[in-house]
Amino acid sequence: MQIITGKAKIAAVLGWPIEHSRSPLLHNFWLQRHLIDGAYIPLAVKAEDFNTVIQSIKAAGFKGCNVTIPHKEAAYQCCDVVDETARKMRSVNTLWFADDGKICGTSTDGDGFVANLKDTGLTLTNKKILILGAGGAARSVAYSLIQENAQISITNRTLQRAEQLVQDLGAGQIIKWQSWAKELGQFDLLINTTSLGMEGKEDFQFDLQHARADLVVTDIVYVPRMTPLLIAAQQKGLKTIEGLGMLLHQARLGFSKWFGVDPSVDHELTEFVANSLKK
Ligand SMILES: NC(=O)c1ccc[n+]([C@@H]2O[C@H](COP(=O)([O-])OP(=O)(O)OC[C@H]3O[C@@H](n4cnc5c(N)ncnc54)[C@H](OP(=O)(O)O)[C@@H]3O)[C@@H](O)[C@H]2O)c1
Repeated sequence: MQIITGKAKIAAVLGWPIEHSRSPLLHNFWLQRHLIDGAYIPLAVKAEDFNTVIQSIKAAGFKGCNVTIPHKEAAYQCCDVVDETARKMRSVNTLWFADDGKICGTSTDGDGFVANLKDTGLTLTNKKILILGAGGAARSVAYSLIQENAQISITNRTLQRAEQLVQDLGAGQIIKWQSWAKELGQFDLLINTTSLGMEGKEDFQFDLQHARADLVVTDIVYVPRMTPLLIAAQQKGLKTIEGLGMLLHQARLGFSKWFGVDPSVDHELTEFVANSLKK
């Protein structure tokens, strides 16, 4: 049985709203699995209170935190130490408080995405990849794919945002949003990083008629687990990779920084978190 003592290590996730977050579920699953004296709690924090709360949890001895919407840019601004990934993204999702009091941060979304793909046996070097979207998650995903020597193309409803991303990355081609479906035949991997297909968003028909038979299709949206894009791809007999694995993998680095154990992503954890998505 997991016991929390006066010496417990504490971490948190800060967001507004925060009720939807699955991070407490998954971190506390790992804490129990490894019998760690610790806890991971959700904190509902408004944008205007973010810096005060960060200073407060640091002063209270928290080991660090995750941040989610709308705090990722503010979290970057409050860091004393960031790595190259965070500098390129100008946003972080994972903070840890070093022994010397410095606030350190990085963005783990991109690496979590790549780790999830590699888990399925996919290789990325020299692969031609089309990314739908140029928002915050697309930035992390694109950056990590470039580190893997993949050849990326980006398409986004708002062209200017795609252009800014390509400029910031110093790599990548742009495809117009209106023509990505016709260009699909040249790609090995298609990634949806837009919020299209997310529960509660408008319906969208993903046109896969020009896809090659060996196209792999992945979606980072994980609510619902089987998104309209993944369903369309499966109907065409294409290989698909769901977005839940990215969520699980991106959490590993924070857990190891705060609690000192590198946790694994396996079937039991995936099913545990997936079950919570059905409720
Ligand atoms: N699996 C994971 O671990 C994980 C991690 C992070 C995020 N996500 C998911 O990824 C999705 C995007 O997150 P984000 O943080 O990148 O959001 P974001 O920064 O707000 O970006 C949203 C993206 O979706 C596009 N978009 C929104 N509505 C659209 C529409 N009607 N038609 C065409 N494009 C549309 C936006 O295009 P414009 O630029 O034209 O507005 C933009 O590219 C969310 O569903 C989020 O839950 C999953």
